[in-house]
Amino acid sequence: MKVIVTGGAGYIGSVVAALLIEAGHEVIVLDNLSEGHQYSVPKSARFIKADVRDFANVISKEDKIDAVLHFAALISAGESVTSPEKYWKNNTVGSLELLEALRKLDIKKLIFSSTAAVYGNPKNIPISEEEAKNPTNPYGMTKLAVDMAITSECYAYGLAATSLRYFNVAGAYKKFGEGHNHETHIIPLAIEAAEQGNEFTIFGEDYPTKDGTCVRDYIHVYDLARAHLLALEKLEPSKHKIYNLGNGNGYSNHQVIETVEKVTGKHLITKVGARRPGDPAILVASSKLAKKELDWKPEKPELETMVGDALAFYRTIRQ
Ligand SMILES: NC(=O)c1ccc[n+]([C@@H]2O[C@H](COP(=O)([O-])OP(=O)(O)OC[C@H]3O[C@@H](n4cnc5c(N)ncnc54)[C@H](O)[C@@H]3O)[C@@H](O)[C@H]2O)c1
Repeated sequence: MKVIVTGGAGYIGSVVAALLIEAGHEVIVLDNLSEGHQYSVPKSARFIKADVRDFANVISKEDKIDAVLHFAALISAGESVTSPEKYWKNNTVGSLELLEALRKLDIKKLIFSSTAAVYGNPKNIPISEEEAKNPTNPYGMTKLAVDMAITSECYAYGLAATSLRYFNVAGAYKKFGEGHNHETHIIPLAIEAAEQGNEFTIFGEDYPTKDGTCVRDYIHVYDLARAHLLALEKLEPSKHKIYNLGNGNGYSNHQVIETVEKVTGKHLITKVGARRPGDPAILVASSKLAKKELDWKPEKPELETMVGDALAFYRTIRQ
C-alpha cells in the first residue's frame, strides 16, 4: 500500500513508519516538526514538512494514497490543562481538517492514535473498550472528540477506520525511540535522571494504590507498532473499530523506578512532589478484543525489556 504517516517524525509514528517500510509499503511521512525530529524519519520514506491542517494543499488525488495513519498530535495531558485551546486546535481541528481532506481526496482507509486518557478514572480494571468515557483532561477530550468524528465519517461515506487506544508506550526499535523535547513520560525521565545523577520527582504518593504511586500499563513500542500493521489489513468499509492496546499488567511508579535502577545499574535520587492535575490512579488495559480480532500478541511484554531498549536508545541516539 501507499500510505501517509502523519506525525511520523515523532516517537511512535517513526517506529510504525519503519515497520511499514520493512513490510514493503511505500511510506510518506507528513510532520510539521513542532515536536518531532527530521532524524527520526526513516531514510526510505518521503518526507513532507507540513501541518496536518494543510493536508489537502500538499496531497492530491494523483498521489494515489491508499491509507493514512494519523499520529500527529500534541500529547502532554498536563499542558492541555493549562493551554486547552492549543490542544483543541491542533488535535481536534487538525483531525477534522484531515477527515475532510480524506473525503475530498477519496482516501478511504484510516488508522488513528487514540489513548487510554479517554477513559479518565475508570470504574473497572482492566479497562475494556466498553468502559465509560470520562476524560479528566483536555488532551483526552480532544482525542475522544476525534474518535466520535471518525465514527460519523464512517457512517456518512464508507470510510474504513480503526482507533487504537494506547496505554503507556515505552521502549525503542532499532534507532527509533522516545525523544520528546518536553518529556513528561516516566521511563525516559527516570533514565535521564539516573544517567545524569539528577533528582527525580515522583508526582504524588497518596493515591489509593498498593504503594501510593500511580499504576500504569506499559506496552513496548514495537508491539504497539505491529498492531497498526495488523489493523491496516483488517479495515472494513463503513466500520469504525476501536481497540485498547496494553499488556494487562500494572506497574506502580516505584516499580518503574526499581526497574530503571536495576537496568541502568545506578541509584536514582527521588523526591515526592504534588500530584499532576488530571492523573488517574490506575490505568490497566484489557486488550482481549485486539488479541481476538487483530490476532495480535505482544512479543515484548516485560517492563525490563522496555527499559533496556529505552536505555540503549538514550545512550546511543538521544544523549
Ligand atoms: N506516547 C504515548 O505513550 C502515547 C499514549 C497514548 C496515545 N499516544 C498518541 O500517539 C501519537 C504519537 O505520540 P508520540 O508519543 O509519538 O508523540 P510525538 O510528539 O513524539 O509525535 C507526534 C508528532 O506529531 C507531530 N505533530 C504534532 N502536531 C502536528 C500537526 N498539527 N501537523 C503535523 N505534525 C504534527 C509532531 O511534530 C511530532 O513529530 C499521538 O497522537 C498521541 O496522542 C501516545
